[in-house]
Amino acid sequence: MGVAVSAGSETNSIFRNDGGIDRTLIQQHFSQLTAGNIMKMSYLHPSENTYTFEHADQLVNFALENNISIHGHTLIWHSDYQIPTWMKNYTGDYATLLQEHVQNITSYYAGRVVSWDVVNEAFADDGDSNAINGYRNSLWYQKLGPGYIEQAFIAADAADPVADLYYNDYNLEGGQQKFDYVLAMVDDFKARDIPIDGVGFQMHINIEWPSESQIKNAFQQVVNRGLKVKITELDIPVNTYANPDKYQTFTAEAAERQKDKYREVVAAYLDVVPPELRGGITVWGLYDSDSWLIDLHGRPDWPLLFNDLRQAKPAFDGFVEGLSD
Ligand code: XIL
Repeated sequence: MGVAVSAGSETNSIFRNDGGIDRTLIQQHFSQLTAGNIMKMSYLHPSENTYTFEHADQLVNFALENNISIHGHTLIWHSDYQIPTWMKNYTGDYATLLQEHVQNITSYYAGRVVSWDVVNEAFADDGDSNAINGYRNSLWYQKLGPGYIEQAFIAADAADPVADLYYNDYNLEGGQQKFDYVLAMVDDFKARDIPIDGVGFQMHINIEWPSESQIKNAFQQVVNRGLKVKITELDIPVNTYANPDKYQTFTAEAAERQKDKYREVVAAYLDVVPPELRGGITVWGLYDSDSWLIDLHGRPDWPLLFNDLRQAKPAFDGFVEGLSD
């Protein structure tokens, strides 16, 4: 049971002066932490010969002192704001850059980080006209072709053979073609002995979508391949893309529907994924106004388990009921 947190000098950092309330909440309810941002590329590797681990170390140390594990997020990502400028302008050999980046960070945290999102979001959304054979047309793809994904997994495995290595992405569980590409990659990796331990389902979903059967079917596909399933970034907003303005306030009805969806997701996970393949369930933020969706959607969507007073919402009860179903 994990949660993504802000740390370092981020506005909502759990280490800010009045962050004790958040640290207490974490200690009470969670057994794993993911850095919402501060372990991404530009934070840890801002220039070619500089790695900045101080903020991440503070988070990792807090976790380990409290018997909480750390899931590392993320070694290789396309996101423009997270590829440091020096990487974009690099004139040397990109294969070496990628290998050293992955290896240096993974080996630094070996023994302290239990699992990594090795590559994040390498496949394109359905309908993306820039896609190339399903792959996202990212800097990494442009420089190295699809082989960059396996190069990252091989480098991470060499640096930390113990940590669980995940491929992580969103929109995998709603029947998208994107998921077929991910599964084909997994099959190919297994056939060629490329190290991979699991698939991370971000699961930025909503109270109406996807359906329970779609979610179960997606988990099952990964289980069938003997890989771990990890829900890495769960949030369940009450407004949807189809109906973005439905809830202007967080009504009791919205709270109940959200509770039902949290219960459904957790119960589906436990139903389909056998214990040895459970990588865990992580919620993407602590309390509603801590959610990244507020900036993304420009509206409050109340997607998380706690309200801003850090009180458990019905969603929390739904999560617990899902665990005990
Ligand atoms: C988000 C963070 O939550 C935001 O604070 C940041 O501004 C952008 O990135 N998929 C991912 C995460 O893998 O890294 C993203 O996190 C959310 C979507």
